[in-house]
Amino acid sequence: MKLFDVYPLNDITITKAQGSYVWDDNGVQYLDMYGGHAVISIGHTHPHWVKRIEEQLEKIAFYSNSVHIPLQQQLADKLAKVSGKEDYQLFLVNSGAEANENALKLASFHTGRKKIVAFTKGFHGRTSLAVAATDNPKIIAPVNETDNVDFLPFNDEAALKAYFQTKGKHVAAVIIEGIQGVGGINLATESFLQLIRRLCDQHDAVFIADSVQCGYGRSGMFFAHDYAGVNADIYTMAKGMGNGFPVGAILIAPHIKPKHGMLGTTFGGNHLACAAALAVLEVIEEEKLIDIAKQRGMYLLNRLKAIDGIENVRGRGLMIGFDVPNELKDLRKKLLNDFFIFTGEAKPNTIRLLPALTITRKQVDEFLDTLKEAIGELKAKSATQNA
Ligand SMILES: Cc1ncc(COP(=O)(O)O)c(C=O)c1O
Repeated sequence: MKLFDVYPLNDITITKAQGSYVWDDNGVQYLDMYGGHAVISIGHTHPHWVKRIEEQLEKIAFYSNSVHIPLQQQLADKLAKVSGKEDYQLFLVNSGAEANENALKLASFHTGRKKIVAFTKGFHGRTSLAVAATDNPKIIAPVNETDNVDFLPFNDEAALKAYFQTKGKHVAAVIIEGIQGVGGINLATESFLQLIRRLCDQHDAVFIADSVQCGYGRSGMFFAHDYAGVNADIYTMAKGMGNGFPVGAILIAPHIKPKHGMLGTTFGGNHLACAAALAVLEVIEEEKLIDIAKQRGMYLLNRLKAIDGIENVRGRGLMIGFDVPNELKDLRKKLLNDFFIFTGEAKPNTIRLLPALTITRKQVDEFLDTLKEAIGELKAKSATQNA
């Protein structure tokens, strides 16, 4: 049987990983500045995470949500403490799209309304409503097309106010990433997030903070939206939550009330996923990874700003992007193939850095030195070609 060929692949097979390094089947070591797409939060194969999962596996991996699973409550308690959203409720799922799908559905149940406000360059996943709220027509199948989602320009306060003035009473939810990931590392301004809060309050709409990529401490705060000093009604999470174990969740404000049967999932909240997610939070707390993400991110950002040739360096914590001019368009490929460093991309010309929150200062320096060398080589090549 052939694999369904939907992923453009790098010709690399990773067989081993530890911390911020991975190794291929030829033993070549790579520095992982991509975190397997922002998934690796506490470092690859962190010993505490491995131990927690192994120990859980020996006891029980799965039973359905028809019985008590005390690990879910332990996870809820720990999440309340680490996120600071003490009075929120937890619903566990398996992925980012599923988290957003449930958040949007819950907002609609709660308000009895249909309209979703989403923003240009936003990405919320590939399931039906999540993809409909994603600003990329190429991945929206005809069956997912809906008039229920309206796209407004990101960070445009006047457009948002005008929209609410005419359609406010129909809005079930506004969904926004604190820092757009797939869209190219674009920060939602604090005043924009504050305005969303105000308008949702005035019109009884639900504010959904998509924290699937920018959450879980990556930005230097637990949720990137926290920088605005306002709370969302629902936070969606996945990626960093399991450090590679598939787990997602939504945090739900206390005024949104549950009803039996309203939401559900077979695998969500299984024993093994809870053990993995607990291990991640324990390590985040123990190793003070949110502070580290903030400090190391600031250092990386400032050092990047001083590098000649790259443009528009931006981000928060360890979620950083920069643009490369045409002369350096092969930079990402070069970093991977010649210097063995994984980075992320956002089309057309953005490089995304999403390393583990455990990345060391030495590894950051290793990256910066290599980046300068790679830029130097590409510039020299371009100069010879133009001579
Ligand atoms: C902001 C955001 N939301 C949702 C998703 C979808 O998550 P998943 O791929 O786990 O379904 C992603 C994935 O990249 C994302 O970046």
